[in-house]
Amino acid sequence: MKMKLKTADPAGVKTSGLIVFLFTEDRPDLNRRPELAGLKKIIGPRLKAGDFKAEHLAGLTLFPEKASGPQRILLMGLGAEKDCRPDRLRAAAAQAVRNVQGLELTEAALVLPPPRPNLEDPVVIAEAAALGAWLGLYRYTELKTRNKEEKPPLEALTMVRSDETHAKATQAALQAAEITAQSIKTVRDLVNRPANLLYPETLAEEAKKLAGEYGLKIKVLDMAAAGRKKMGAFLGVAQGSARPGRVIILEYRGASVRTKPLVLVGKAITFDSGGLSLKSGENMGNMKTDMAGGAAVLGVLAGAARLKLKLNLVGLIPAAENMPDGGAIRPGDVLTSRSGRTIEVISTDAEGRLILADALTLALEYQPKAVIDLATLTGACVVALGNKCAGLMGTAPDLIEGLKKSGQATGERVWELPLFDDYFEVLKSEVADFKNSGGRNAGAITAGLFLKKFVNDTPWAHVDIAGPARTDQASPDTPVGGTGFGVGLLLHYLRHFWDINKVLSD
Ligand code: BES
Ligand code: MN
Ligand code: ZN
Repeated sequence: MKMKLKTADPAGVKTSGLIVFLFTEDRPDLNRRPELAGLKKIIGPRLKAGDFKAEHLAGLTLFPEKASGPQRILLMGLGAEKDCRPDRLRAAAAQAVRNVQGLELTEAALVLPPPRPNLEDPVVIAEAAALGAWLGLYRYTELKTRNKEEKPPLEALTMVRSDETHAKATQAALQAAEITAQSIKTVRDLVNRPANLLYPETLAEEAKKLAGEYGLKIKVLDMAAAGRKKMGAFLGVAQGSARPGRVIILEYRGASVRTKPLVLVGKAITFDSGGLSLKSGENMGNMKTDMAGGAAVLGVLAGAARLKLKLNLVGLIPAAENMPDGGAIRPGDVLTSRSGRTIEVISTDAEGRLILADALTLALEYQPKAVIDLATLTGACVVALGNKCAGLMGTAPDLIEGLKKSGQATGERVWELPLFDDYFEVLKSEVADFKNSGGRNAGAITAGLFLKKFVNDTPWAHVDIAGPARTDQASPDTPVGGTGFGVGLLLHYLRHFWDINKVLSD
């Protein structure tokens, strides 16, 4: 799809479908929407008659008699003004684009809504609407052999605004939305791809492809190379599978060589059977999703490169399949991590923290300004926060604050959990330095405390995305399956908060 920006009176836009957003407060007479004056004759009566109440995501198609403007008007409800934040507009734009597709139109226009109390910035409005439009088109179709596209593709969408200010910033926002959406699409495709097709080697191939496309440096460690690097915790997990593990290392240079990087670490267990501590059938069903953190890191690096962000990034993606074959680690085994610390394996199903331990140690070798890890780490986090919010933990207040703000702005919500030091008690081992599992209580927090042992004093944040990485409930901008969670959050954070994050500097 091609997206264009145009300044025009909506009533005069020649298009087969004009998307018009309305707030519930815009009823009954449209007087609060001067930019829609030219459409009042056709929309007004429908509002007065109560045919359209502008509830969030409600739609109604109208057919003007005049031949000079739009052939159809697709009303789309935004709900109450005071509730309208960027994520609500994003969802409404996604739904509107789906309605356009439902009508089998290949071209449409969208009138950007005016600023309102919780959605004040016209540039933010344009970006949210554009992101929604792109995400509304997403489907995972690569494995369907029939009826891939039920509807003809939407080829062009014109974003219409009625005032001429902020032209450059708005154009840049549309560009950012397109890049963000494409990065999210890449991640969703990877997360949705089944584990017989997506395993460490093929994930590394995908990473190489993206690196080539967007000018990232890439290095892939195979099992032997990981062995030379003494990544014993990572290898312990990887050795239980017929498919060898890989450590994917990506670099994006957007600032001078002397600028310390931000290192992003992403858990990529391409399938988590639990290993010998085998999961039940019920809990294993969606475990192809267990590489969502790694996929998100890949998406963020690709997105950052395309946005030409002025910073240096390193992406570390330990990729392994957690399986119970004859070479698998056993409960009771002790692994020596790259940091030199020994870990007693209580549960082979607490594998994420094992591969992350070694990846975090590797991260410190880049002398990073900060480290952020993304991981589908604990079921306990899902129990605590549900499916529409990630757990956030860490040692750097500014990092945490920035991520919280980006979470609010993007709707990719995060909620901070405390890293109480005394909770580490349960991870003390009789035979080794640490245990890899401390039981059910505060499971998300003890996992965070385990990771903390491997970042030393480096400013660090940990995002547990076990809940939001996947959804079983479709919404206008996210079908069932992988969500791409973390990509929008981190790209927003990097664009808006990383630069000013002065306190992080040493
Ligand atoms: N990949 C799982 C966590 C998970 C659970 C992700 C549900 C997505 C949805 C992780 O490797 C795991 O199995 N964690 C264990 C840890 C326990 C053994 C300490 C868990 O949460 O049960
Ligand atoms: Mn597991
Ligand atoms: Zn796992």
